[in-house]
Order: sequence, then C-alpha cells, then structure tokens
Amino acid sequence: MADMAIIREVGLRDGLQLVKDMLPTETKLEWCRLQAAAGFNEIEVTSFVPPSVIPQFADAAEVLAGAKTIPGLRPSVLVPNLKGGTRALDHGAEKITFVLSASEEHNLSNVRKSTDASLAEFRDLVAEREARGLAGKVELSCAIATAFGCSIQGEVPELRVFEIAAQLAEAGADEVNVADTVGYANPHQVRTLFSVLTSYTGAVPIAAHFHDTRAMGLANVVAAADAGIRRFDASLGGLGGCPFAPGATGNIATEDCVYLLESIGLGTGIDISALLEVRAKLDEWLPTERVEGRLMKAKPAKTFRPAA
Ligand code: COA
Ligand code: ZN
Repeated sequence: MADMAIIREVGLRDGLQLVKDMLPTETKLEWCRLQAAAGFNEIEVTSFVPPSVIPQFADAAEVLAGAKTIPGLRPSVLVPNLKGGTRALDHGAEKITFVLSASEEHNLSNVRKSTDASLAEFRDLVAEREARGLAGKVELSCAIATAFGCSIQGEVPELRVFEIAAQLAEAGADEVNVADTVGYANPHQVRTLFSVLTSYTGAVPIAAHFHDTRAMGLANVVAAADAGIRRFDASLGGLGGCPFAPGATGNIATEDCVYLLESIGLGTGIDISALLEVRAKLDEWLPTERVEGRLMKAKPAKTFRPAA
C-alpha cells in the first residue's frame, strides 16, 4: 500500500472567483460530477460570500445542494466570516473552510476587519456548530492566507503564522490550511515552516495551498510533502487567484500536482486520464480563460507508473 495524499480540487472556488463569465450552476455541477468520477473525494464547490462582492457565487446554495447528492464526494465551501459560516450551516455544509490572513493588511483588504477579529469570528463559528449539535458532523477548517508573504504588506513573520495556527488548534479547528495566496513561498521556507508548525497545532491535520505565481508551486509541494504534509489544494488548469490581493494568479494545476505526487510515490486515488478529460472540458466551459498546466500539453510519460 502506497503512502497516500489527498488532493482537494479548489477550481470551482479559488479558480472561479477571478472569472468574470458566469458559469451556469449545471455546468459547475457537471464539473463536480466528472471530477468525483475521476477519483476526487474532496472538492471545494463554492463560497458563501455576498453576491454583490463575488457574483460568480450567487448560486452557492444550489451548487452545494447539488454537490451533496454526488456519490463519494464530500463538498466543502469557503466562508469569509461568521455570517457566511452560518449560511453554510443553514444549507447543510459538512466541511467549511473559514479564511483569515496572517497579513493584517490582506485581512483588511479581503474581509474588512483585523485578523484578531476574524479569529474571534472563527471561535464564534465553532460555538455556533456546537449550539446546533453539529460537533463531529461538520468539519471546520481554517485557512491562513498570505502565510508566506503578502503583496500588500510584504513580509509576514513566521511567528505570526505559528501564533494563529496555535489559536486555531486551541479554538477547535479540525484542519489548518496554510496558504501561499500570492505565490511568495519558496521550498526552503515551506520546509522550515511545516517542520515547526505541528509543534503549535498538535494532532490537527495540516493542509497546504500553493499558487504558482512565480513557478515555485510544485517545488513547494515537494518541500511540504518532505515535511510530512499529505493534504494539498489544487485547481484544474491552474485557474484562479484572490481578487483582493494585487498580482494574484493561479493555483498549482491539479493535473500537474496529481502527476507529481503519484510520481514521487504518494498515491492520490485519482485516475489521471479521466482527470485530463475533465481538464479538456474546461476549455469548452471557459473558452476565454487562460489556463495553465503542463501535463495537459505533454501527457504522461511512457515510463510513468502511478504510486498505488
Ligand atoms: N454572505 C452573505 N451576506 C453577507 C455575508 C456573507 N458571507 N457577510 C456579510 N453579509 C451581508 C450582511 O448581512 C450585510 O447585509 P445587509 O446590508 O443587508 O445588512 C452586508 O453583507 C454587509 O455586512 P458586513 O458584515 O458589514 O460586511 P462587510 O461589508 O464588512 O464585508 C465581507 C465583509 C467578508 C462580507 C466582504 O469583505 C467579503 O465578502 N469579502 C470577500 C472575501 C473573499 O471571498 N475573498 C476571496 C477568497 S480568499
Ligand atoms: Zn488560493
């Protein structure tokens, strides 16, 4: 049995939040269905933000409801505040990723409050989950955005990331997702941060979320995997970026990330050829978007053998 890693598709959220053309709800659900059939158990399907802020997610409730009916899929949703979290609970979300930023200035730009105020809202969301009797049923993850640097503030002290992660673990987070929102991380930084982080978070699982803005994305995945990380976010065709972070571009491409992890002996449970067929569909669904990713062009090497 190969060592395993989980890849969570975030194209429908991180990917679509910069896309101006509205993707119809049914197309979003077809995307989810096809990718679940290719072996994905985790897909971040939408974001509970005000439609006035990101119109692409005006159909959040419908997308979540549809995704919940797909066999084998555990859809997750992003929320930027307590209000989004309670809406997600109202609509039966089983995994919620609350986002806050290690960079104070990015937090202000993204969600219009201080990082400490966001931390307090995360605690309130945990309390809301308990009050609804949903502890153990709804997983609450918290993403620490701009954990490796910020295009507004610049430097983000590692110690601040550790302090936030420790507070999240103490607050009852089921997962801490460490995000390089603007593609500032390098592999040395990643290896160092992840090697130390668990001494602050104990048994709480850690996920890594990389962007390929400066072509370091996959190198950072290897560094994180070396440091023991087994949960990765990625976006089909490398779509995406944060609309509230200047210069933000796409995530690491899911298909390249799957190929990388399988190549270095980490099984993902994903059928690469089925995944490339979904990737081809993306060109039909979003004909005017620029998509990245190398595997789609080159296809797997003749010598490629999946891990499992
Ligand atoms: N979903 C739906 N409506 C929401 C909401 C949510 N998550 N959060 C707030 N609202 C509503 C409020 O109920 C209020 O409505 P009202 O005017 O009818 O009373 C209105 O929006 C303003 O609420 P307020 O709490 O003052 O929000 P704000 O104006 O300070 O904005 C955010 C805060 C978080 C809602 C906004 O900054 C945001 O959506 N940011 C998006 C972040 C994001 O998605 N980034 C990319 C991913 S990292
Ligand atoms: Zn991102």
